[in-house]
Amino acid sequence: MREKVLILDFGSQTCQLIARRVRELGVYCEIVPHDISADKVSQAAPVAIILSGGPASVRADESPSMDAAILEMDIPVLGICYGMQLLGQLLGGVVEKHTGGEYGPATLLVDKPDELFADLENRLDVWMSHGDLVRELPDGFETLAHTDDCHVAAMGNAGKKIYGVQFHPEVVHTTRGKEILRNFLFRVAGCSGGWTMAGFIAEEVARIKETVGDGHVICGLSGGVDSSVTAALLNRAIGERMHAVFVDNGLLRAGEVEQIERYFQHDFPLNMQTVDARKEFLDALVGVTDPERKRKIIGKVFIDVFSRTAKGLGKIDFLAQGTLYPDVIESVSASGGPSATIKSHHNVGGLPDELGFKLIEPLRELFKDEVRRLGAELGLPANLVNRQPFPGPGLAVRIIGEVTEERLEILRAADLIVQQEMENWEGYDEIWQSFAVLLPVKSVGVMGDERTYANVAAVRVVTSLDAMTADWARLPHDLLGRLSARIINEAHGVNRVVYDISSKPPSTIEWE
Ligand code: XMP
Repeated sequence: MREKVLILDFGSQTCQLIARRVRELGVYCEIVPHDISADKVSQAAPVAIILSGGPASVRADESPSMDAAILEMDIPVLGICYGMQLLGQLLGGVVEKHTGGEYGPATLLVDKPDELFADLENRLDVWMSHGDLVRELPDGFETLAHTDDCHVAAMGNAGKKIYGVQFHPEVVHTTRGKEILRNFLFRVAGCSGGWTMAGFIAEEVARIKETVGDGHVICGLSGGVDSSVTAALLNRAIGERMHAVFVDNGLLRAGEVEQIERYFQHDFPLNMQTVDARKEFLDALVGVTDPERKRKIIGKVFIDVFSRTAKGLGKIDFLAQGTLYPDVIESVSASGGPSATIKSHHNVGGLPDELGFKLIEPLRELFKDEVRRLGAELGLPANLVNRQPFPGPGLAVRIIGEVTEERLEILRAADLIVQQEMENWEGYDEIWQSFAVLLPVKSVGVMGDERTYANVAAVRVVTSLDAMTADWARLPHDLLGRLSARIINEAHGVNRVVYDISSKPPSTIEWE
């Protein structure tokens, strides 16, 4: 059985960050709701448990708690922030409101290194964010560290292997946070590590082989990272019995079809076919200007084309999807309530049930950065695994107003220039997305001695961590100048370029 850590989610925004840190240390972990029963924990047989932070106060009525029997199971536990206060309360200590609270950077003074702070300095930069504190320790616990504002900033019961830290070791501002987590996992809990992408591939290939047997799998290949890695993994497991279908909807960027075909027919050959459905999509979009209608139409035509292709392939048993871990975590709402909403993922969403596919989702345990590492480990080209996200409805949501062949041509030419210039810029790796948008506005210009009345293009370049929030990129003026000059000169039909300086929120990344 795979070595596993469970992270009990008390609604902290950094819960996923804890999980990523643990995995970066080579230990597999899963996020579970805070009210998981002791029985379920026993079935999962974790080597350690981490209690996340959370926005509530343990002193409030109905604040999220946990099955206290879990603390009697001889499993090492680390409570972080709210998690430490909960340990304090459940084990018989006293938790009080902290007058004024403690937010932001603080200096941690280690009083007793114990295993948790072994081999670390006794003054550490940490990041705090708490309104309560542990005033009196539970029996059997010792204070391991304090700050000026918090006399129990870390506590431990070495015999029971239960520890609590008031600060957040998972954030980068706690400079030695990763070492503290490493100490907990390896010294306290005795983890052996070894969760690697190579190991994951071996396990997952075996699992896919067993699930699929001698059946056949269809996989919608969009050219994005998730579907590409899904297809590559299936290819490793079942070879030709994986049928990757790449639908050319006519809404792709310049050279994209050729690029995807080069990747998957030559560089990393797998059983893929391109379905040319350009006319079908563009015909369905005639006269449509409303963004949501565009999306609906594109989604529906995709399903028609994909279903038809699947039928044409003969007997297909499974549909593979690139669902990722953040989409399947039962998340706890920010108020701390156990809302347990599971987001459904719709890569190839809404396929009719009568097709009778069973679903396989080989990436459902992974975070995005792990998917990229998996892709690299499988041998996919670096520029494929590091690709920027591209929306399913493609250029249709970057042409504001009606989508026509002529406007697609103009946008493709402008967008290609943005891609080229951005890729040549040294700051490109910091960019989340960079693209052009064609506006439904014409403006007056002058070229040579001629008056022009032509299109306006916007350039959108953003930085982001997860697309939930984003900021416009502060590009150097000479790069902006080059983008503008080249688009006006080379993308015929554009005589004015504007740069989008809106952040998300209140704007969104895409214009539609
Ligand atoms: P917004 O515009 O909502 O975009 O800030 C957030 C991220 O999602 C992408 N996006 C889409 N992806 N289908 C997709 O597959 C869509 O309809 C869609 N709309 C936006 C967008 O490119 C950004 O990465």
